[in-house]
Amino acid sequence: MASTDVDAIAVEPLGSPTDGALEMLGQLVVQSGWNQTPQDWALFARLGSVFVVRDAGRRIVASGAVLPMGERAAWISMILVAPDARGQGIGRRVFAHCLDAVQATGRTAMLDATPAGEALYRQFGFDPLWRLTRWQRGARPALSTPAPEAAPLLDTLAALDAEALGFARRPVLDHLVQRANSRVLRHAEGFAIVRDGRVAHHIGPLLATGEDAAAALLAEAAGTLPGAVFVDVPDDRPLLREWLTDAGFTPQRGFARMARGADAPAGQRNFIHAIAGPEFG
Ligand SMILES: CC(C)(COP(=O)(O)OP(=O)(O)OC[C@H]1O[C@@H](n2cnc3c(N)ncnc32)[C@H](O)[C@@H]1OP(=O)(O)O)[C@@H](O)C(=O)NCCC(=O)NCCS
Repeated sequence: MASTDVDAIAVEPLGSPTDGALEMLGQLVVQSGWNQTPQDWALFARLGSVFVVRDAGRRIVASGAVLPMGERAAWISMILVAPDARGQGIGRRVFAHCLDAVQATGRTAMLDATPAGEALYRQFGFDPLWRLTRWQRGARPALSTPAPEAAPLLDTLAALDAEALGFARRPVLDHLVQRANSRVLRHAEGFAIVRDGRVAHHIGPLLATGEDAAAALLAEAAGTLPGAVFVDVPDDRPLLREWLTDAGFTPQRGFARMARGADAPAGQRNFIHAIAGPEFG
């Protein structure tokens, strides 16, 4: 992309995504090696907003998404710039647009940042709340077949989730659970959702009363998955780290959970053993 006049960068709402737009957004995901699928983009567009920057030929060269999480918080994600358009102020511009959209609703803006994103978001007054690591495992034969699924008790699950996070995101959970290959694992001491991603299955959110209970859920979930697996675990979980290492998972990258302003919903973080994903909180 030719050098850009920053003031001339127009950020536009995507509206309902067409197949062509989904293809271009998917390209941004591939270029950054991320895991999101067309279903994820559809979720952002249906429950929140997707913003894009296009070049002169109408190619989408940058994206950002805003997802309301109940009345108090909103999640900013999918800040992606095509590699050939980086370093020209486009990422800053699309992020500022997403932040304006959140602030216009009076919600607290929250996000999970990659190291590159963290440097940018700090400039907008975001502070890290805690840190997490994406652990990955390669494809391998499944060790067991999934147990017949009990009814997922979504009301209970959503209530626990809201308590742990400090904000409610029932429509997001419903969307994740209702997908074709999604599964809900429910034990007496916690639950986990498993869904398909572009390159790996994703385990999360995983909420449990303690690390032992979380490890039992992870073992069951990972044991039934033949493909690659991602799970994003808070860094202050020493037993889970040990379990993940023993089970053949390796750290892929770190994220910082960040919020802007002192009034970020706190929740009960000790119950969160894996997040739904950096794009969903
Ligand atoms: C991070 C990203 C969105 C930045 O987009 P961009 O258009 O190149 O960013 P800008 O040109 O607007 O630069 C804005 C600021 O970002 C910071 N930044 C950009 N890339 C960075 C990197 N790789 N490492 C550290 N800081 C970086 C710089 O501080 C820059 O500020 P400066 O102008 O004071 O130097 C882009 O590199 C990208 O898509 N990366 C892959 C996906 C990703 O990590 N997204 C963030 C998700 S949380």
